Amino acid sequence: MADDKHKRYTVTAALPYTNGPVHIGHLAGVYVPADIYVRYLRSRGKDVVFICGSDEHGVPITLKAKKEGVTPQQVVDKYHRIIGDSFRDFGVSFNIYHRTSSQTHHETAAGFFKNLYDKGVFTEEVTEQYFDEKANQFLADRYITGTCPNCGNENAYGDQCEKCGTSLSPTELINPKSTLSGDKPVLKATRNWFLPLDKMQPQVEAYIDSHKEWRPTVFGQCKSWLNGGLQARAMTRDLDWGVHVPVEGADGKVLYVWFDAPIGYISATKDLFNAQLSQPKKEEYYFNEPLKPEGAWEDYWKSDDTKLVHFIGKDNIVFHCIIFPAMLMAHGEYTLADNVPANEFLNLEGDKISTSRNWAVWLHEYLADFPGKQDVLRYVLTATAPETKDNDFTWKDFQARNNNELVAIFGNFINRVLVLSHKYFDGKVLMGSAFTETDREVLTEMGIYPEKISSSLEHYRFREALGEFMNLARLGNKYLADMEPWKLIKTDEERVKTILNVGLQISANLAILAQPFLPFSADRLFGMLNLESVDWDRAGESDLIGVGHQLNEASLLFEKIEDAAIEAQIQKLMDTKTANELVTAPVTESKPDISFEQFAEMDVRVGTILTAEKVAKTKKLLKLTIDTGIDQRTVVSGIAEYFDPENIIGKQVSILVNLAPREIKGILSQGMILMAENSDGKLSFVAPAENLANGSVVR
Ligand code: 2FM
Ligand code: ZN
Repeated sequence: MADDKHKRYTVTAALPYTNGPVHIGHLAGVYVPADIYVRYLRSRGKDVVFICGSDEHGVPITLKAKKEGVTPQQVVDKYHRIIGDSFRDFGVSFNIYHRTSSQTHHETAAGFFKNLYDKGVFTEEVTEQYFDEKANQFLADRYITGTCPNCGNENAYGDQCEKCGTSLSPTELINPKSTLSGDKPVLKATRNWFLPLDKMQPQVEAYIDSHKEWRPTVFGQCKSWLNGGLQARAMTRDLDWGVHVPVEGADGKVLYVWFDAPIGYISATKDLFNAQLSQPKKEEYYFNEPLKPEGAWEDYWKSDDTKLVHFIGKDNIVFHCIIFPAMLMAHGEYTLADNVPANEFLNLEGDKISTSRNWAVWLHEYLADFPGKQDVLRYVLTATAPETKDNDFTWKDFQARNNNELVAIFGNFINRVLVLSHKYFDGKVLMGSAFTETDREVLTEMGIYPEKISSSLEHYRFREALGEFMNLARLGNKYLADMEPWKLIKTDEERVKTILNVGLQISANLAILAQPFLPFSADRLFGMLNLESVDWDRAGESDLIGVGHQLNEASLLFEKIEDAAIEAQIQKLMDTKTANELVTAPVTESKPDISFEQFAEMDVRVGTILTAEKVAKTKKLLKLTIDTGIDQRTVVSGIAEYFDPENIIGKQVSILVNLAPREIKGILSQGMILMAENSDGKLSFVAPAENLANGSVVR
């Protein structure tokens, strides 16, 4: 499927905030689909630049710096490395991974602002903004939290509610609170420059309306913004970390991070071309793709025959579909995005991924735990990509997809073909008796896949594309299982030569088509087939490997992942959950004061559980015999849902021995075992830290 309208492609992936490492949500939402798309285009010989970099300004960075007691520059230096390394290690093939703290970016963003300023695009307005008197600072964006007026979320930020996705301004928050001091902020007048989106609405609307082909989730969100009526938005902030506003009277002001960040795509492209002239400090950036684009940076941004595509997560839609295009329109020289394939969110084991709650699978940790298994994660994240709705990553599913799909279908097919070729024919590609009807059918069917997969990819349907790829592997697997060359070899060697030839042609096709999705495995497969990587346009051909060709040694493409590895990951998450509970469990208020005398009336002793059994016909009750040091007595305790009787015999407990006896289910209970209970009702014995004699006093 040829896209003749466009001569070249500029593909961008959202610049991640440099305030923490990247996790599977980032990879699934943005970077894997973007990389698949770009690798596919390159494999088709297209002229493409793939652009990304660190978003190093904005309040999330300064807040992190404050929390860690370091400077914002130290924060971004640290995470730029960690994030850049993760992308490189996962084969995300950026032409450049840049940084917005770079000089090129500061100049480019400031220049862009100045261009609009000189054209009189901005309106200058004095407005009342929240100010923290204790911190002596204006409270932009994430410096302020409060209740979302739209959904009631009590932890909405000054720029956005993460729960309902609504974009907000600080003054819309109910019960605003400074994240610096925790105080209620005051309003103070300040002057800022606004992009008059209200006046630009017709142009923006026309642009969006010309893209009804966008994903319904993206188009729908844009329309709902437009229907609500666009409002002028401040493009400057009273902060000191960021790109300084390059006009007079703007001391102490920086560009709004959402003004500067998307311009980061342009700055990065500039430095990509500068790098070819070896101008920027190369060690700061990552160049993950050895192929260098042709021409000049302007060709990739200011030319109508360039196709611009932004890969982002759904929380970035308004910025990429409305605000950035409005900025580009106001500038006048730039091309607008042809598509913005935004993904929904990926959850983890049923819970929203969260950096602050450490509820994530961090890429650098994954690689440490599963070295060499980048493609497995790329595969699983594509197979479950949140393209149309939020989706869930679970470790069990990860294991099942590896073992039942990658290993059992793709890997198994390749392994059988290669191992049998070596075993029977010393790794030589041969051709025996003529193709049968079945062979021809299989080869014809194989020929349909490249077009199917291309079409899905061109329409940004990556899950579907991967599904078709696996169907081709299934076709190969089934062919081999049906032909049973391992049986035929005893009677018809000529036939086996042909069967393996067909198998090898399918393998070579799979290697081509795997390149965008599973780049590491595709390289290995090409290596085993002893082929240089082959372009996409040759996929579908059934003579990719000629007779007489020598294959290289075979090794397994994928390995089974055992239960223990998965259980370890699940345990890691459970530990996180427990740690979070300890920090975040709501604590009930204390009861009214009592006197020391009242307290002293309670006689609590250390005792040991001697026997334990369930009380018949009840769910919650255990009948215990306790050695209290004073005596041995019976206690009925409501802990059966949390403890198995056999596991608690011999345990020491604290027992209130002078509680008046009472009858429970016909049993006389003499005393009460002390239990600690968390907010979820989970129980734990209150016992001495080390064993003490029964009867010891607790006070
Ligand atoms: O949501 C984020 O992580 C932002 N840092 C994305 C910025 S994308 C672009 F505009 F730079
Ligand atoms: Zn909300």
